[in-house]
Amino acid sequence: MSEDTGSGKTPESLSPGVACVGMGVIGCGWATYFASRGIDVRAWDPDPEAPGRLRRTLEIAWPAMEQLGLGPGAGPDRVRFAGSLDEALEGAALIQESAPERLPLKQSLLSELDRMSSADAIIASSTSGYRISQLTENCSRGPERIVVGHPFNPVYLLPLVEVVAGPGTDPAAMNRAEAMYAGAGKRVLRLEREVDGFIADRLQEAMWREALHMVANGEATVEQLDLSITAGPGLRWALMGPMLTFHLAGGEGGMAHMLDHFGPSLESPWTRLVAPELTPELRDAVVEGCEEASRGLGVPELVRERDRGLVAIIQALERAGLGTVGPG
Ligand SMILES: NC(=O)c1ccc[n+]([C@@H]2O[C@H](COP(=O)([O-])OP(=O)(O)OC[C@H]3O[C@@H](n4cnc5c(N)ncnc54)[C@H](O)[C@@H]3O)[C@@H](O)[C@H]2O)c1
Repeated sequence: MSEDTGSGKTPESLSPGVACVGMGVIGCGWATYFASRGIDVRAWDPDPEAPGRLRRTLEIAWPAMEQLGLGPGAGPDRVRFAGSLDEALEGAALIQESAPERLPLKQSLLSELDRMSSADAIIASSTSGYRISQLTENCSRGPERIVVGHPFNPVYLLPLVEVVAGPGTDPAAMNRAEAMYAGAGKRVLRLEREVDGFIADRLQEAMWREALHMVANGEATVEQLDLSITAGPGLRWALMGPMLTFHLAGGEGGMAHMLDHFGPSLESPWTRLVAPELTPELRDAVVEGCEEASRGLGVPELVRERDRGLVAIIQALERAGLGTVGPG
């Protein structure tokens, strides 16, 4: 992190830069990604530990960014920690909010961002599921330029960002947000209407709930649950989503055969889609299971291992001519 060098070529729509507000896992990921594309970032977080967290994320992530290819003028020094929220927001084209997923906190922060920022900046929330109409209740200038910009962890490697409008979002602001993310090399999934959990989190949550039920009922261990995905459906999902995957599972008859064949069994009571009660026992079983499954590795080592794997998958898809997922 240092002063701006001025040598990068920030895409027109993101010029002069991005303000990242809330520098936890996701904010640090966004800042790292933008810096890798040569885009200037001003970061802000009230936690005195946040600059250290950002530095560690940049250190861990940068080798992967170099392997995938940096944008012109890229460098960790594109990110600068601001001394105040005001300073972080000054002149930003995009304000990316990544504060904790607590509705009252986000409502009050978004109203502050709305009040303090230039009226032509786009404000995007990284929220994992709140609706823009909930988040913007206290915004005095109105919700026209506020969108959801929902990323996926690690933000610096996974290209997808769900851009979601609220009922009051101006379509022109959606167009600008889409152009900003796409210009920075992200893959944009655009939702014109509010959907709880958007698309990807809705799917992830369904599986997560089932996994918790299986631990709570002693039906599967944490390790078995993870293996069931990494050695199975997870490999296919790097290539095809759940729909085309099942289209091929229907053989030559495709999805039509799949639905006719398995349709009746969909009514079998295999799933328990109501969230299980998070008892202390369930919490401890999941936490202990993750510790065992980590093979003695700490989170930084696991992050490095995951990043090496993701880079290898992205590069393998590119070599096979199927490389639609890598950062642009
Ligand atoms: N972790 C994920 O996998 C993931 C994925 C996609 C989206 N998200 C969303 O991103 C957002 C951030 O999640 P996270 O996992 O990075 O959380 P986190 O707890 O790692 O980080 C939150 C950060 O916000 C800071 N913060 C607290 N109060 C603040 C305030 N008033 N103003 C600015 N910053 C403040 C905290 O100091 C912390 O650094 C949430 O909305 C979450 O739903 C998370």
